[in-house]
Amino acid sequence: MERHPLNLTVNGKPYAVETEFRKTLADTLREDCGLTGTHVGCEHGVCGACTVVVEGKAVRSCLMFAHQAEGMEIETVESLEKEGELHVLQEAFAEHHALQCGFCTPGFLMLVKGAVERGEELSDAELRHLLSSNLCRCTGYQNIIRAVRAAIDTFKEKASAVPEAAR
Ligand code: FES
Ligand code: FES
Repeated sequence: MERHPLNLTVNGKPYAVETEFRKTLADTLREDCGLTGTHVGCEHGVCGACTVVVEGKAVRSCLMFAHQAEGMEIETVESLEKEGELHVLQEAFAEHHALQCGFCTPGFLMLVKGAVERGEELSDAELRHLLSSNLCRCTGYQNIIRAVRAAIDTFKEKASAVPEAAR
């Protein structure tokens, strides 16, 4: 199959790869960029395990061709940990036992990252609605809901503790 040049920015880093027009963004991230934190489950847009952030929006990367993301900014789960420090979402998932096998976890983290970092005031119904797009076969969801709530609160506390001049 013929490969074509493709330029992506993933987690702030430029990637120049060669890949087929038919290849999904999920497979390109894993196979051409070596970023295997993005998981592939159903491969047809149902489970959400492959969720990444493209240009600020949560996207199912199994439903997008890699070439559709030419020149775009992509964030994967690998972007969350910075200099050995876990993102508040990762800490909250660990603390609230929001994962068991962990297969679904990268997708959930990238699905809710935007809401957490914007400090969104989500009602229970809104949070459940947001999370309902992704599947978890292990946890029963309650601890994921608790973890996301805790992460939103912690992120807001941390943001309000940063002095005005440093923002
Ligand atoms: S692998 Fe993409 S939605 Fe399931
Ligand atoms: S932790 Fe196993 S599928 Fe969610």
